[in-house]
Amino acid sequence: MSGITFLKTEDLEGIVSFYMEELDMEEWVVQCGCTILKHGNMLLGFCQAPISDLDVTLTLFYDDKKSVDAMYERFKDTADKPPAVNERYHIYNFFAVDPEGRTLEFQTFLHDLPPFKDGEGLLAGRRSVRKYSNRDIPPKILDSVFSMCRYSPTSMNSRSFYFKVTDDRGVLEALASERGAPSAPIGQGKIAVAICVDTEKTRRATEDGCIASYHFMLSAWLHGLGTCWIADMDRDRVKDLLGIDRKHYVATVTPLGYPEEIPEMPPKGDTTVLYST
Ligand SMILES: Cc1cc2nc3c(=O)[nH]c(=O)nc-3n(C[C@H](O)[C@H](O)[C@H](O)COP(=O)(O)O)c2cc1C
Repeated sequence: MSGITFLKTEDLEGIVSFYMEELDMEEWVVQCGCTILKHGNMLLGFCQAPISDLDVTLTLFYDDKKSVDAMYERFKDTADKPPAVNERYHIYNFFAVDPEGRTLEFQTFLHDLPPFKDGEGLLAGRRSVRKYSNRDIPPKILDSVFSMCRYSPTSMNSRSFYFKVTDDRGVLEALASERGAPSAPIGQGKIAVAICVDTEKTRRATEDGCIASYHFMLSAWLHGLGTCWIADMDRDRVKDLLGIDRKHYVATVTPLGYPEEIPEMPPKGDTTVLYST
């Protein structure tokens, strides 16, 4: 199921341009007298009416405190006070108002959340994370991340991949120092995950392993967790450190944890698509 919250407004044009320009929402669907806006998983419809719906609080939540602070810089003039931690709900927030007087709340959750990202947030928001916070990953979240990986495609549905997980600090440090800077992110996470393939179950170990790795990375991101592909490690040493069968294939080892910071989007350019004529 999906949903839309509709609100009446006396000034459709003005309120739509405010939400688009100041809150970065995008036009999703325009109907007769109503415009539905979209941002992340939020769908908000405004409809022209004689009296505005004002008795409402629209809460917009962000990935981190930095993003809430950035919104505060934009909304300083109508904000009640600077962003602060609300211990009761374990959030970091502030309140402001839209031009018609509706309450806007800007917040980030300071605790783990079940998945909520929309497809765009999942695919376009994912970043390689190299700095991790000290927060533990709740076992329920970890189970859910791995559980989603069952949907990764495998050659002839061989289901040949599996995950080897470690939180042993000594092993993490040894993996991190494998290749200097490129492997260093492993030492930053609370745990590391090797994506492995049982080569007796498939003739396509590389493909099964690489696809499962990316599926895992997206599943982690869906749950608010960061990963980083680490390449070119001495695979035999990795297998020995993690107790993986030498005959099995290791696609990659990635740190896994809550991001300390989400890196800026690196330049992505356009997708190259060549259509035959
Ligand atoms: C095959 C492959 C190998 C990579 N190897 C490393 C690596 O050894 N260390 C590292 O920190 N990042 C590594 N990365 C992450 C890339 O640097 C990263 O994907 C790229 O800079 C784009 O950033 P983004 O993932 O945030 O979009 C690798 C990514 C891929 C796909």
